Amino acid sequence: MEVGAGERLQAVKVAEHHSDNVLKMTKQSKEENRAAYETPETKYTRSLAQMSASCDSRCVVLNTGARMPLVGLGTYKLRGSEQVHRAVDAALAAGYRAFDSAAVYSNEADLGRALKELMPKYCLTREDVFITSKLGPKDQGDRALEGALHSLSELDLGYIDLYLIHWPGTQGKVVDDKRNPGNRAQSWATLEDLHAQGKLKAIGVSNYTLAHMKELIQSCKVRPAVLQVEFHPQLCQTELRRVCAEYGVCFQAYSSLGQGDLLTDPVVLEVAKKCKRTPAQTLLRWAVQQGVPVLPKSSNPDRIKDNAELFDFSLTDNDMDTLSALDCEHRYCWDPSGVA
Ligand SMILES: NC(=O)c1ccc[n+]([C@@H]2O[C@H](COP(=O)([O-])OP(=O)(O)OC[C@H]3O[C@@H](n4cnc5c(N)ncnc54)[C@H](OP(=O)(O)O)[C@@H]3O)[C@@H](O)[C@H]2O)c1
Repeated sequence: MEVGAGERLQAVKVAEHHSDNVLKMTKQSKEENRAAYETPETKYTRSLAQMSASCDSRCVVLNTGARMPLVGLGTYKLRGSEQVHRAVDAALAAGYRAFDSAAVYSNEADLGRALKELMPKYCLTREDVFITSKLGPKDQGDRALEGALHSLSELDLGYIDLYLIHWPGTQGKVVDDKRNPGNRAQSWATLEDLHAQGKLKAIGVSNYTLAHMKELIQSCKVRPAVLQVEFHPQLCQTELRRVCAEYGVCFQAYSSLGQGDLLTDPVVLEVAKKCKRTPAQTLLRWAVQQGVPVLPKSSNPDRIKDNAELFDFSLTDNDMDTLSALDCEHRYCWDPSGVA
């Protein structure tokens, strides 16, 4: 299927934003901040972050006007303050400025705390990082306000940059329960209110199918900024991407590595070998080269760094086509297609 003009626009809007953020801190306060925290180790990590072709300088522009980094750290299964702190430290050192959490990951509090502890080390302020979290399926409907306020309180970072309805269904209800559409609408209206109050800077959805997206776009007051769904060469989601582009919704990928399983696919290995890149970089580059933001998860500092080094090489049209030809609608994560 032909890629739409809006989608090309999203790719074109990939923008440099680091200079904007730097301007937000006065030179003086930045120097004071740096002097207070500088140690040989921080000096080293800071220069590494500055030297690398880091992901903090590459963004997509959302329909709110906000800039969202093309590469964010996925945090599903990152658990406990120590593991989260280590991963966030490695990510900030490697240039990540976006972090994807969710109420159901049970790590919002650990993520918020790690960021508050680590931002000074990298001379960053709240505005320099982009935090996503998600309303859990148990809070869909009349519990949405409580759920969103709980995320805000757990993260404790003042506001959330992007808050998503995690799943089109409601926990405890069968997938085809006729109350699902009403619950989704109620959750969306709650997110719209919190967005108007400035607590959720952008709002969006996750795991919505084409039908769920059409229903939302027809009824919403605030158009969703992002749709976050599973996306990799075995699940290209062409029609969903086309609809997102048509309505100015940023299409964002999760499970780009097939939760690790795609890293041993023979076709991926062959393209990676040809590019002299790791299989993970090859899969992530395939997405970002189409303007699709990615959220690779790793708990390993070397892999976290590796997964961000995506902007000093490109795949040929032939490599892109070879990977896209793997499309077989295979999912490694949950399938929302039956949700009423
Ligand atoms: N909205 C949703 O419903 C939804 C669903 C799923 C995921 N997500 C988001 O998307 C993020 C990413 O998706 P995901 O966690 O499902 O899986 P993923 O990023 O596709 O894969 C993560 C797995 O790959 C391994 N890995 C990462 N980088 C590697 C590398 N360079 N070399 C070798 N192995 C590597 C990780 O192991 P190590 O940790 O040991 O490195 C982990 O086992 C999540 O963390 C979450 O933030 C959202």
